[in-house]
Amino acid sequence: MPQDRSGVGEPSLIRTADISGKERYQLLTSLVVPRPIGWLSTFAKDGTPNLAPFSYFAALADTPMLVGVSIGWRAGEPKDTLRNILDTRVFCINVVTEPQLEAMNATSGDYPREVDEFKVAGLPMAEGSVVRAPFVENCPAVLECRLYKEVELGTAANSLVLGEVVAVRLGSELQLLPGTYQVETESLRPVGRLFAGGYTLLGKIKTLPRPRPG
Ligand SMILES: Cc1cc2nc3c(=O)[nH]c(=O)nc-3n(C[C@H](O)[C@H](O)[C@H](O)COP(=O)(O)O)c2cc1C
Repeated sequence: MPQDRSGVGEPSLIRTADISGKERYQLLTSLVVPRPIGWLSTFAKDGTPNLAPFSYFAALADTPMLVGVSIGWRAGEPKDTLRNILDTRVFCINVVTEPQLEAMNATSGDYPREVDEFKVAGLPMAEGSVVRAPFVENCPAVLECRLYKEVELGTAANSLVLGEVVAVRLGSELQLLPGTYQVETESLRPVGRLFAGGYTLLGKIKTLPRPRPG
């Protein structure tokens, strides 16, 4: 049973083995915040497009350029995104930005396999140039990925998909810092996920120089 606390009282130590799966999910997703959202687009074997958001999502390496997405199972079956990635070995990651927040949310329902979430959310679809996977045409930044490795997470009802980013699409609205490939955050307007239906939009940016010991 969760403790009733409103920010006052004794500090507590929660042993994660003593609480339920739902409670572990609540703790993890409210403490590891804000999380970026990978909005994954795939084709099923029969060509049906699929689009769904995932916030168990992280940048892992640059050479090769790797990202990780942890995708759950539903009623003993892999979610459509995972099924499609294992079948086609490719996917696109649409970076979720402020203007697309509501459309992203509309694609997160547990729709049956035959439902095309691009249509549900009224989003234009295009096809990758390097990989045969769909993407959200008006999304400012898209990573075209090949499946690098699937890592089964033991007893967890999730699979970790490692993707190699083989191409990056940048919309004309995105600005790069002169002489670099750094995308100006203000031109991207990224969204972060907090817990449940909570999201954070870009606030004040604070820039710090890194210490250089010696
Ligand atoms: C912002 C957001 C983030 C989500 N992150 C995840 C996630 O990391 N892993 C997961 O399995 N489901 C996540 N979900 C739920 C999936 O989007 C949802 O189950 C979706 O229906 C999966 O679609 P699919 O069956 O077409 O793959 C998230 C939902 C939202 C709204």
